[in-house]
Amino acid sequence: MKKHDRFVRYTAPERINHWIVAFCFVLASLSGLGFFFPSFNGLMHVLGTPQLARILHPFVGVVMFAAFMLMFLRYWKHNLIGQQDWVWAKNFHKIVQNHEVGDSGKYNFGQKCVFWAAIISLILLLISGIVIWRPYFAGAFDIPLIRLALVVHSVSATALIIVIMVHIYAALWVKGTLTAMVEGWVTSAWAKKHHPRWYREQRHRPTQQEKRPR
Ligand code: HEM
Repeated sequence: MKKHDRFVRYTAPERINHWIVAFCFVLASLSGLGFFFPSFNGLMHVLGTPQLARILHPFVGVVMFAAFMLMFLRYWKHNLIGQQDWVWAKNFHKIVQNHEVGDSGKYNFGQKCVFWAAIISLILLLISGIVIWRPYFAGAFDIPLIRLALVVHSVSATALIIVIMVHIYAALWVKGTLTAMVEGWVTSAWAKKHHPRWYREQRHRPTQQEKRPR
């Protein structure tokens, strides 16, 4: 494929940033599920031993949050909801039949929902995680608040796991998407089909194509 048939979608630092978040997510979610259900206790071993998992899980969570904040700062503008997003949402039944609808920009409505659900659950996970973090912070809070934080932590972790499962499914289901986050580029045909407004923006700045994507 010729270089001009491709658009740069993510630079190397952006991809490294994303995969740090994804790696931390896998470690934090598996070890967290290991604490939660006795039948999943074996999952704590993703962080070495159960004792190590208890120590490392909160630190992995903080790294995930900090790395996601960098993504948040990079992409929040592209994830603002616009008029075309309602067209996408109203025609979701067509999307599942593999037809594209709406004039999506860099991200479609589904991706935007994942983005906002991820930041909301990560903020809740961070705040509740600090309240229940022994031995550093939990001692400063009352037992009822710690209990509430435990519920918030479990519910938001479950929500994030479901959201990321949808995210991974969509990334694999829409052919040609994975190269964006692995190699950094997408084909112009992919862009035209799935993100027509972003395609037009990229086409009108041909000299920028191999530079930073917008
Ligand atoms: C573990 C497996 C994962 C895979 C295979 C994966 C795959 C991808 C791919 C292919 C893209 C590019 C989509 C596009 O540009 O259209 C992407 C974007 C993105 N991913 Fe992931 N991802 C994973 C985990 C995560 C996790 C754990 C998070 C956050 C907690 C995350 C957050 C994002 C965000 C915010 C974007 C940019 C899309 C937007 O801002 O709406 N990903 N991912």
